[in-house]
Amino acid sequence: MPATSSSYPGKIILFGEHAVVYHSHAIAIPVNQVRTTAVITPLIQYPPGSIEVSAPDINTKCRLNMLAETDPIGYAVRLTLQKLHVDKPPAFSIHITSNIPIAAGLGSGASVSCSIAKSISTYLGKPFSPVEISDIAFEVEKLHHGIPSGVDNTVIAIGQPVLFQHGEEIQSLQVGETLNFIIADTGIKAQTGEVVGSVRLRWQADPTRFDTLFQQIDHIVLAARDAIRIGDVETTGKLMLKNHQLLQDMEVSHPALDRLVETAMSANALGAKLSGAGWGGNMIALVRENALPPLENALLQAGAVRVIRTRLESSFEESHV
Ligand code: PMV
Repeated sequence: MPATSSSYPGKIILFGEHAVVYHSHAIAIPVNQVRTTAVITPLIQYPPGSIEVSAPDINTKCRLNMLAETDPIGYAVRLTLQKLHVDKPPAFSIHITSNIPIAAGLGSGASVSCSIAKSISTYLGKPFSPVEISDIAFEVEKLHHGIPSGVDNTVIAIGQPVLFQHGEEIQSLQVGETLNFIIADTGIKAQTGEVVGSVRLRWQADPTRFDTLFQQIDHIVLAARDAIRIGDVETTGKLMLKNHQLLQDMEVSHPALDRLVETAMSANALGAKLSGAGWGGNMIALVRENALPPLENALLQAGAVRVIRTRLESSFEESHV
């Protein structure tokens, strides 16, 4: 069997994180500037069923059977083989690399799972569909998140901007005008599962308040979908800021995130918000093309450890995928 390689992007949530866990809508886009890759090489001399795993970014190099049941990479490999009904595949090594920052809201875990599922299924001659890839990544996400909404695995496996709602048909976005974004990393690592768990506890303690917040966010997401469709960049930016304020009310922001949002707004961003689980990780700012370099400098001076430019191109057609 020939060597195979698969690669998947990172992702960023433009609108609707946290509320999406409670069945509100969210808008997420792939971030192609950061990626994971899995390369499969046949191990011709080895007996069937031998699988070597290497992931240098997290110092992993061992046989599959040395990885714990709860190890996300081991789980993704085993689940893929199980779905393919293959017990002892022809021996192979899988080498996983990534330049997606970990625990920063950019979907590194889901992207790794997608690369693993796609490369192994292709190597074994039964390449999975995007939906099958997404389903495997969703199962693995449960290890990190407890109860994930499914937005990360969906946008990464499909590789297109999506309007997502748990359990509903996924819709791609129509984009009236290209949007330019800067993603800025606070450098603070936060575990999605812990932040999501804390919101759940507070929702259980005060469901009325939190359900209202989730509803307000849902309205913002749908208004943003309409603004993006007609190319109303100013309104899109204002809605980002409103979404950030509601995430602050939900107590998932962090002083470092708030500082970067304020810096972005003082440096002529059209809008800015935290993205992902919060308590650290990244913020995203919407910016006109000519304001990109000064905004990047301002964010780095305000303490961002990394900035990434990404775009939402105006060429997508609204359709069911
Ligand atoms: O993985 P992160 O940090 O992008 O967070 C995912 C977004 C949440 O809405 C907070 C959780 C979820 O499952 O959707």
